[in-house]
Amino acid sequence: MQVVKEYVQRWYESGLDPDEYVCHYKQGNLVDIESTATGKRQTVLTFCTNDVLGLVQDEAVKQAAIDAILQYGTSNSSCSVLSGRIDLHRQLEKEISEFKHLPHTQLFINAWMAMQALMDAFCHLAIPVPGFQHTRETLIMSDVLNHGCIVAAVANAGTRSGKMFSHSPRVRVRAYRHCDTEDLARKLRRYARPDDRIMVISDAVFSMDGDIAPLPDMLDVMENYDGSVLVMDEAHASGAIGATGRGIYEHFNILPQNAIERGIIPLIMTTFSKFAASAGAAISSHVAELIPLLNVSPTSIGTISLSPPLTAAALESIRQVRQSPELVQQLQSNSRYLRSRLIEQGFNAIGETNVIPVILPPDINPKIFGRLMLDNHGIWVSPIWFIAKPRVRITVNAIHTKEEIDSLVTAMVATRDILYKPMISA
Ligand SMILES: Cc1ncc(COP(=O)(O)O)c(C=O)c1O
Repeated sequence: MQVVKEYVQRWYESGLDPDEYVCHYKQGNLVDIESTATGKRQTVLTFCTNDVLGLVQDEAVKQAAIDAILQYGTSNSSCSVLSGRIDLHRQLEKEISEFKHLPHTQLFINAWMAMQALMDAFCHLAIPVPGFQHTRETLIMSDVLNHGCIVAAVANAGTRSGKMFSHSPRVRVRAYRHCDTEDLARKLRRYARPDDRIMVISDAVFSMDGDIAPLPDMLDVMENYDGSVLVMDEAHASGAIGATGRGIYEHFNILPQNAIERGIIPLIMTTFSKFAASAGAAISSHVAELIPLLNVSPTSIGTISLSPPLTAAALESIRQVRQSPELVQQLQSNSRYLRSRLIEQGFNAIGETNVIPVILPPDINPKIFGRLMLDNHGIWVSPIWFIAKPRVRITVNAIHTKEEIDSLVTAMVATRDILYKPMISA
């Protein structure tokens, strides 16, 4: 532990530790927070929530969660294989399947569990089955900026074979350059062997850059590999992109069926922690046989199933989105408005979704930027300095008003005026 102590001490000294806040109350985008370092308490306007449609405090969503607790209690107290599912699970799976145009869906308690289950199921299958020999290697191509849940799951997939699953052939993982389909094509030509099972995996919307995976070009490349699998992580895409919030396929005006017709197997991961006012994840497919395999993966059997209130909140949220697509349109309009206002003011605001990263000069500590925003303007944005280029990450949602967005831009300009001169003049 000495190394840990010394490391953390140096970490604090160099100011790389994140500031911590505790929330006492929320109303819309107004949040009453307390700084754990200073004890200072203030009501701030948040631009760092993933509650993209503002459904966390929707009356029907809250009531659905309360009703579920009254009917089932707060927890299912086991996994679905050992103790069964609740009817709400079945309804939610059906609702997601309809929303994502893929008929079979399996729930998980979060994205990390879902991704791990997918790798275990797809790459390694489950237990050895008499009379079945799994001989084909898997090649996974992963965008270099994919979310940590993908990175962790594919890293595990690459090392598990021969350990937990001694019957499973090798899994080879290769990264391709961010959103670069030429690099994807080049690396597939270089690494794919004739008998490989091929999986390409990508965030649909990248969580730190706010940009969208080039799905049509990816399909063009993958068409050359019949039976290849395309996994889209729609954590930030669900409820946010596409005319009615159905995600990346709708954004590009296509259906998963179009991929299927071209010999590509589409898999979609949906998560509920952003648009669906809850927590949890789901994997959807048109291949019915994938579901029982996902259901017996270690991260399904070895952990709790999605709790009744979380399931009910997600279910009601998806119903709300389907009934009120104008929420999604409002989100998209707010995103366009804020991004264009920031660019107009000379900020380097990248991406194209409601995740709006503003890249800062390399010598500016984003934490200081964030603190000034809070202290001087009562506006909460996320400073990001780990791994990524230093930036302020802003997430706008459907319930931000134009006045609130304008006040954010004013505060950003005033904060920049204290810290540095704009790179591009307004
Ligand atoms: C692309 C992506 N995938 C997965 C996740 C994790 O989702 P969850 O917290 O809902 O499990 C996130 C969270 O930010 C994400 O951005």
